Amino acid sequence: MPHRSPGAPHGAGNYLSGRVIKYYRPRGGPDVRHLIDNGFQAFNAGRLSEACHIYADKMLAPDNDTTVGLTIAGALTPAGLGGCVIELMERGLVDFIVSTGANLYHDLHYALNFSLHRGSPFMDDVELYEQGIIRIYDVLFPATVLLETDLYLRDFLVRSKISGPMATAQLHYRLGLDLLEKNPGCEEYSVVAAAARTGVPVYTSSPGDSSIGMNIAYHELMNAGTLMIDPSRDVNEVCAIILAAKKNGCVILGGGSPKNFYLQGQPTLWEVYGIPKGGNDYFIQFTTDQVVWGGLSGATPAEAVSWGKVNPGVLPDTVVAYVDSTIAFPLFCEYTVGSAHNRRPRKELVHKRDALVADLVRQAKAAGSDKPITHEPAEIDRHR
Ligand SMILES: NC(=O)c1ccc[n+]([C@@H]2O[C@H](COP(=O)([O-])OP(=O)(O)OC[C@H]3O[C@@H](n4cnc5c(N)ncnc54)[C@H](O)[C@@H]3O)[C@@H](O)[C@H]2O)c1
Repeated sequence: MPHRSPGAPHGAGNYLSGRVIKYYRPRGGPDVRHLIDNGFQAFNAGRLSEACHIYADKMLAPDNDTTVGLTIAGALTPAGLGGCVIELMERGLVDFIVSTGANLYHDLHYALNFSLHRGSPFMDDVELYEQGIIRIYDVLFPATVLLETDLYLRDFLVRSKISGPMATAQLHYRLGLDLLEKNPGCEEYSVVAAAARTGVPVYTSSPGDSSIGMNIAYHELMNAGTLMIDPSRDVNEVCAIILAAKKNGCVILGGGSPKNFYLQGQPTLWEVYGIPKGGNDYFIQFTTDQVVWGGLSGATPAEAVSWGKVNPGVLPDTVVAYVDSTIAFPLFCEYTVGSAHNRRPRKELVHKRDALVADLVRQAKAAGSDKPITHEPAEIDRHR
């Protein structure tokens, strides 16, 4: 078959006749709360119910003042789950985010008013390719959506004159501001725009591994752009946010590299900076992965204790539910929005990153982690 790049559709047939995917916004429905409290009693339904209680009753309780990190992997914005994230950010229920670049890139389609459609996972992909249709499982959209989103990104990089080394939180903040200016009101249907509006820093653990990274690479090569994503800034900022928290808790969707990027904050503090923070206080994960493969996506909170990622005294406040996030997360958010602690003052950490990192430096110096490493003779003897 002769190669033809997708993106020049000769008529999309009726592949795009399915309903447009819109971001669902949870409303706190009492029936969902009733179901979760009374119907979800055992197995993974029981774990999901437990997760709802840990979040709504403990993590969000005003006295605990938990700094909540949300990590996002799996194709969740294409599936329409961005509205749940927006609702939590608006209500101050999520303080920072670590996401795959893909979820942020696909969020831009919504921000730019392009349409993704409901479809089927059982399709002829060669035919889709011929018609210039992209498929993410059962989500379908024309390849032109990719090309036009890429064009917007490259135009933003040039127009904004964004340059020099920076954290991904800074890049995403600038991108969000640009979207708000271009499409006023898009904070209602874009995670990136809503994060900028609500002051929630958004990090990406593998910035080169997405279409956002692909377009930044183009900008460097073809426009001599000097924007340089600095992963060390991301590591230090996440660490500083965790250090400043009264309590720390995470909601992990899927797993993947965002999961570790969040969890490594605690070991970075004790192992590298010499500041024992004590580990996470709350841990919630929804995943389809399993523990038996030894990978981190399936690793349990108990295993994380051995690394100092989770406080050994809090295992009752940790839970893994083996469920599809596209089912669990909307239910979890619906439950939360309908709960007593459904709104908190926003921390707006995106504006406090430099001050928090300065405090990390101060505490690391006080802990002596900047001093040359010396080995006491007794210690050397022990290793012989
Ligand atoms: N165009 C793009 O920019 C693009 C597109 C796709 C992926 N990517 C990149 O590829 C990398 C991998 O991304 P990924 O999202 O496939 O994550 P992933 O495969 O690394 O990790 C996902 C983990 O979460 C779990 N998971 C996935 N979907 C789930 C669901 N619905 N419910 C519960 N658990 C689920 C899986 O078990 C897996 O362990 C990322 O760096 C991403 O940015 C980029």
